Amino acid sequence: MTLPIAVCVSGRGSNLQALIDAIEQRRLDARIVLVACSRAGVPALDRAARAGIPSGVFPVTKATRSEAQAAMGQAIKGSGARLVVLAGYDRILADAFWDALGEVPVINIHPSLLPAFGGLNGMKVHQAVVAAGATESGATVHRAYRGKLDEGEILVQRRVPVSPRDTPETLADRVLAAEHDALVQAVGLFVPAAAS
Ligand code: GAR
Repeated sequence: MTLPIAVCVSGRGSNLQALIDAIEQRRLDARIVLVACSRAGVPALDRAARAGIPSGVFPVTKATRSEAQAAMGQAIKGSGARLVVLAGYDRILADAFWDALGEVPVINIHPSLLPAFGGLNGMKVHQAVVAAGATESGATVHRAYRGKLDEGEILVQRRVPVSPRDTPETLADRVLAAEHDALVQAVGLFVPAAAS
């Protein structure tokens, strides 16, 4: 049975694209019913438009976070999504979001082997991994909950070796490929089994 999902994004949207591609290629039995974005004019919105997916921009500033995210939660609830995917959504979610969303489960992708290097975003994660001299990094998809950052049951993890020659940029490229795979697999865990 096809799973309706909402995807929350903030920028480039390559994880969103991985989901779009997997759905188009029938590797994932899901339908993206809404792309919700924290910024106007970002590539993720172009990706949604090219795929014919409805999108909404809920711009977040310090002053408007609660209102904007409440509106985002309401829009997601109204879209009929049965799963929310945080795919590069770079803002902490206010209580008003969770209140509006209700019981819909939320998952998040993070570019490290959580719990290692949690609490950071995007390239800052890879900079910290390289600076720490870690020999391994990776991608994690986990359940996300009210008031928690990069915590929640781990659903899928992919390991990526770090070489002494890696820069944050070269590491980010390899981890990103692992993220795309891990995210498709994790969303697949929520697809209801077809009735027999
Ligand atoms: C991804 O690497 C994602 O894991 C990361 O932001 C990037 C978004 O890329 N998210 C976090 O760091 C969350 N803490 P994308 O817009 O191309 O999918």
